[in-house]
Amino acid sequence: MRQKLIIANWKMHGNLARNKKLLEAYVEKLTPLNSVNIVVCVPYPYLAQAQAMLQNTDIAWGAQNLSKDAEGAFTGEVSAAMLKDFGASYVIIGHSERATAYCESDENIAIKFKQAQTQGLTPILCVGETLIEREAGVMQMVVAKQLDAIINLFGAAVFANAVISYEPIWAIGTGLAASAEQAQSMHKFIRNRIASLDEVAAASLKILYGGSVNPQNAVQLLVMQDIDGGLIGKCSLNAQEFEGICRAAT
Ligand code: PGA
Repeated sequence: MRQKLIIANWKMHGNLARNKKLLEAYVEKLTPLNSVNIVVCVPYPYLAQAQAMLQNTDIAWGAQNLSKDAEGAFTGEVSAAMLKDFGASYVIIGHSERATAYCESDENIAIKFKQAQTQGLTPILCVGETLIEREAGVMQMVVAKQLDAIINLFGAAVFANAVISYEPIWAIGTGLAASAEQAQSMHKFIRNRIASLDEVAAASLKILYGGSVNPQNAVQLLVMQDIDGGLIGKCSLNAQEFEGICRAAT
């Protein structure tokens, strides 16, 4: 059985004082929940703080993006090796908030995915469709294209050491989560697509759901067969709500 994985995505929120309180509350409330894996993805400047506060706990930490290049003259970029320097073990790749605002192509995202793995980080690949695409009934085609960008370059076996987060764009930050059935159906589609190429990778691959997960809807989503956890934005900024979601995963 795949152990549940709950990942906090703080996005561009926080400051040293607020993070300290939040991380203290995470440690107090979440470390007793040892049947669920917990990760927090913080803004770059707070990686050192996450490392200092979490290094002797079961909570892992990571970043929200990385450079597709290993090193060089790339002003403003942050490399995978730099993330490793601060003990990060996960990195979010291709979140739709970045893909739209910073014009990230599927190919760029694929290269970042590989770059993360090469350096020993676990990539959390975000995929998902817009509302227009769902209403047009092409959501599976859209997600398949996002997966194929990686499969075509690197094969399906790379998913054995990766996490995919299905994040319908219409559900992110809107308070309107996908129904458990909608999410399960897409998760199964994703797993089947990988399984058709590599059954072993598909069986171990964790597929998370992200988009307006809260303590109220978490159980319904997390009991579904192919939903292995969640990527949590807004509710991860509130220790009590995040705890509620993590408990739902136990
Ligand atoms: P949300 O964000 O939980 O605030 O909807 C999820 C995400 O964007 O990862």
